[in-house]
Amino acid sequence: MNPTRPEAQARLDDPSDEPAPDHGRGTQTTSARAPQPAPLTVHGPARVIAVANQKGGVGKTTSTINLGAALAEYGRRVLLVDFDPQGALSVGLGVQPHQLESTVYNLLMERGVESGEVLQDTGVENLDLLPSNIDLSAAEVQLVTEVGREQALGRALKPFLPDYDIVLIDCQPSLGLLTINALACADEVLIPLACEFFSLRGVALLMDTIGKVTERLNPDLTLLGVLPTMFDTRTLHTREVHDRVVEAFGDKVFDAVINRTIKFPETTVAGEPITTWAPTSYAADAYRMLAREVIAR
Ligand SMILES: Nc1ncnc2c1ncn2[C@@H]1O[C@H](COP(=O)(O)OP(=O)(O)O)[C@@H](O)[C@H]1O
Ligand SMILES: [Mg+2]
Repeated sequence: MNPTRPEAQARLDDPSDEPAPDHGRGTQTTSARAPQPAPLTVHGPARVIAVANQKGGVGKTTSTINLGAALAEYGRRVLLVDFDPQGALSVGLGVQPHQLESTVYNLLMERGVESGEVLQDTGVENLDLLPSNIDLSAAEVQLVTEVGREQALGRALKPFLPDYDIVLIDCQPSLGLLTINALACADEVLIPLACEFFSLRGVALLMDTIGKVTERLNPDLTLLGVLPTMFDTRTLHTREVHDRVVEAFGDKVFDAVINRTIKFPETTVAGEPITTWAPTSYAADAYRMLAREVIAR
């Protein structure tokens, strides 16, 4: 059941694929906070960014795929790391995770695994994937008794860093040991926050966890930014939540705002990023604007 490719119809047939009033106006154009990125002549070493929020369904996986694809369009070499045993990031890029022989699990738990055995091509230029499947849930249990259990992902990713400009880690919806591993090896954390009821609930706990990781494991970890997602252009409520997010996080909130649109579930079925599935959509442009802000920060 593959949805038909939207092509140039993208903006005409989907009323939800419109810029968010005020917030979305800038998605088409560059701005001081999102200038046109300079091309790169040399690559690496990578900035490592963890995409985290212990709440599920806020757009972590969708943002990892589409921010990654937009950064790749700007000529950045990007490695996406699926760090959720559900394997949704892998599926969203057309990889069937249960059919894989080697995954992030093998990189974490076994010695002498070649990076090339695990690395997957995504079909998008400059965009590679380290896939996961349900095996990763065993790692969470097995790591508990390991020496340096919080640094396992950092050790596994080290050989990849020279070859990439940006590594994005898609975290699972919990603050368990896998997410701690991601925060422990990241330079920065990006928090997608849905513009809906109760979305700010739980963020205090996430910030507390980030604080503890910074204190005890990774003093260099910083908050890259907060990404408002699931913005519903038809409701006033979504704008009120957005205002509260800006009150709470100030200029850490990205100017890019991701609307709620059916296009994202469609891209999952298609197994490709929105930037190639519906390249002219506002939703694709919103992730391009986010990519420019990330490069500029
Ligand atoms: N901006 C959006 N508009 C509508 N649906 C979205 C949007 N972003 C994500 N989705 C859909 O919502 C569900 C949860 O998104 P996902 O990125 O998997 O969240 P998380 O990784 O935080 O659990 C998925 O089915 C996805 O296709
Ligand atoms: Mg996810």
